[in-house]
Amino acid sequence: MTETVSMSNISTVAYIVASALFILSLGGLANQETAKRGNWFGIAGMAIACGATLLNLDSHAYGVLLTAIVPAVFIGATLAARVAMTAMPELVAMLHSFVGLAAVLVGFGNHLTPQTLTGVEATIHQAEIFIGIFIGAITLTGSIVAFGKLRGLVSSKALTLPGRHLLNLTLALSCVGLAVWFMTGGGLLPLLIMTAIACLLGIHLVMAIGGADMPVVISMLNSYSGWAAAAAGFMLSNDLLIITGALVGSSGAILSYIMCRAMNRSFISVILGGFGATSSGKKTVTEQGEAQNIDAAATAELLESASSVIIVPGYGMAVAQAQHPIASLTRQLRDRGIQVRFGIHPVAGRLPGHMNVLLAEANVPYDIVLEMDEINEDFPETDVVLVIGANDTVNPSAMEDPTSAIAGMPVLEVWKAKTVIVMKRSLASGYAGVENPLFFKPNTRMLFGDARQVAEAILSKLNALVAA
Ligand code: TAP
Repeated sequence: MTETVSMSNISTVAYIVASALFILSLGGLANQETAKRGNWFGIAGMAIACGATLLNLDSHAYGVLLTAIVPAVFIGATLAARVAMTAMPELVAMLHSFVGLAAVLVGFGNHLTPQTLTGVEATIHQAEIFIGIFIGAITLTGSIVAFGKLRGLVSSKALTLPGRHLLNLTLALSCVGLAVWFMTGGGLLPLLIMTAIACLLGIHLVMAIGGADMPVVISMLNSYSGWAAAAAGFMLSNDLLIITGALVGSSGAILSYIMCRAMNRSFISVILGGFGATSSGKKTVTEQGEAQNIDAAATAELLESASSVIIVPGYGMAVAQAQHPIASLTRQLRDRGIQVRFGIHPVAGRLPGHMNVLLAEANVPYDIVLEMDEINEDFPETDVVLVIGANDTVNPSAMEDPTSAIAGMPVLEVWKAKTVIVMKRSLASGYAGVENPLFFKPNTRMLFGDARQVAEAILSKLNALVAA
């Protein structure tokens, strides 16, 4: 008895410590300078949580657990070590789907296990099962569709079925009806039908969102996966899982809200899969005039004679891994007394903070890396803007064309600078498949090629200029 009490005391203390570490981890991740520490807090919290859970188990459960955990650790670690930075959102989407699947399985497992609960407790338990499976199933299929969209297996274009809001409403209302049936002793059948409907709802909600709005979907599914984990925690009466799930759920919801504000979208309509921007999905642009080219030597001369430069990186910088030559270029220009700053769009790249991570990796000082709102007014006074593999996030049609798929999304107003140099491989459109009139503006010069090779070429021309 004493042993059981002390064991449960130890695990309670361990769970509290783990929860505190998870909160510290989230706090740390909010800032580039403390992000590494935040990760360590998270790792320590998870290690303590796993240790406490293991201590709580019957010794005969260890065999089953190890059979599941050992191969999973091996597969997970191998995949995570091999994944390219640009494929990280796909991995995250896949992991979210596992959380959803786990909640569904825990729900069915709970329902099929004979219960001793009676009265209100039994009713609450039934509700936990129904809600847990509902959220889990939406997370499961929604995340699989998001994975497909990010991988290019499913069109990134929004699927806008006629009467789609009515369809969502009908699906949701039928789940309410099934909940009543289940709670009044319907058994397994309503649960199975609801799971199928929730799976369909998950697919439809995410299919209806496309193009440049995908970042919001990712953070929203992140939030759903947290709530699915919290629901599983209720079903398993595991306090730590409830706390961790709630932390992930609420931080994901806050991130979705921040993303919606950055993209000028309505939070509610995103949750309802409603704003569904229609993108053309085209990868080439129709002629909008003549694009003017520039080479690396002329770019180096322009940069050398500038007094202020803003660098705007995008997904192409991540693909080309151009951050290191760009960091060297930045150092060279700063050494010559030229003001160099970076302008970062909130959804540049393919995951929140993508550009910040790459620039930090290349040791670009944090204080010259500015958010869109901090730098957008400075473009008119800037001599040269270097756009490196960014496209949707610098597309003026977001502000100028109300019919554009990205209409209303705030962008970096690079075209207001004296000269804009766009480094990319072609005139092709970006993730949202929207044509970009920036390429044809009179003050824009296109510098075609792989961003890393082109940045290295500019760097060597700049060095040659100094030596001359
Ligand atoms: P994008 O609009 O995706 O454009 C990237 C550009 O990089 C492409 O047009 C491509 O043009 C160029 N590129 C690709 N490889 C290159 C290389 N090796 N060298 C040089 N250029 C290269 O980029 P963005 O401005 O960063 O916008 C991000 C988009 O992704 C937004 O629509 C956003 O909503 C979406 N999205 C963001 C997230 C998050 S959370 N950030 C998540 C999912 C989706 P070429 O083919 O001509 O080279």
